[in-house]
Amino acid sequence: MKGVVLAGGTGSRLYPLTRVTNKHLLPVGRYPMIYHPLLRLRRAGVTDICLVTSPEHMGDVVNLLGSGSRLGIDLTYRVQDEPGGIAQALGLCESFVGEGPFVVVLGDNILGEDIAGEVDAFRAQAADTDGARVLLKNVHDPERYGVPEFDGDRIVRVIEKPSHPPSTYSVIGIYFYTPSVFDYIRTLTPSQRGELEISDVSNRYAEQGTLSHGVLTSWWGDAGTFEGLEEANRLARDLVYEELPGVADE
Ligand code: DAU
Repeated sequence: MKGVVLAGGTGSRLYPLTRVTNKHLLPVGRYPMIYHPLLRLRRAGVTDICLVTSPEHMGDVVNLLGSGSRLGIDLTYRVQDEPGGIAQALGLCESFVGEGPFVVVLGDNILGEDIAGEVDAFRAQAADTDGARVLLKNVHDPERYGVPEFDGDRIVRVIEKPSHPPSTYSVIGIYFYTPSVFDYIRTLTPSQRGELEISDVSNRYAEQGTLSHGVLTSWWGDAGTFEGLEEANRLARDLVYEELPGVADE
């Protein structure tokens, strides 16, 4: 399965930290933030990865990651000229994705567990149905995220940052799709904040009854705000990716 990591956007919620540095290069634990989604993908056997970032920061990102070989991955890059939303950034990866099912990870999502089981679950789902899969985490502050509304065990709707959350779950920044997602993205219109929203994509699948979900059991952090960055650093403080070269070998 191929992978997509989205690392565009302005990082404006972290100004002035992100005035000259891309959000995804800020430290989380012992690593630059972007290492975390890339290494979770690699651990799930996803090594062919398309990375989207903004023109301002593409140079720094390539300086850090290069071809990806040091991380054991093979990187393709796409530039998102304007921060038009997560779904717009994903739309840039259509030719990279080609025919098969694939997984998308937001560059500011930090996970305490591997996702190989979820990759397998979606591979099986995609062999049968043309649907999508999202991952959920039970949280104390769902209003900060996309929040699922359930009918029994089925997600009927995802609401982006609701003031009255219909559940205590967050839709975290890991999504599984087949290439049909690109047709859906073409039909989206910008939200009130002027972005093509990934929750609107989830809703297309929810309406069709083809949106499955898994639930994370370990910790998860969205490092896109000061509060989130601090929490992600606390959670990832002792996280070490043994597969990477040691400091002395860098
Ligand atoms: O972290 C999970 C949450 O991520 C979900 O629960 C929400 O449903 C989803 O909309 C998203 O919310 P955020 O407000 O955290 O999204 P943010 O604008 O911080 O963007 C997350 C990542 O997506 C960011 O690290 C880089 C990438 N991105 C974002 C935008 C707006 C792009 O690549 N291009 C963009 O234009």
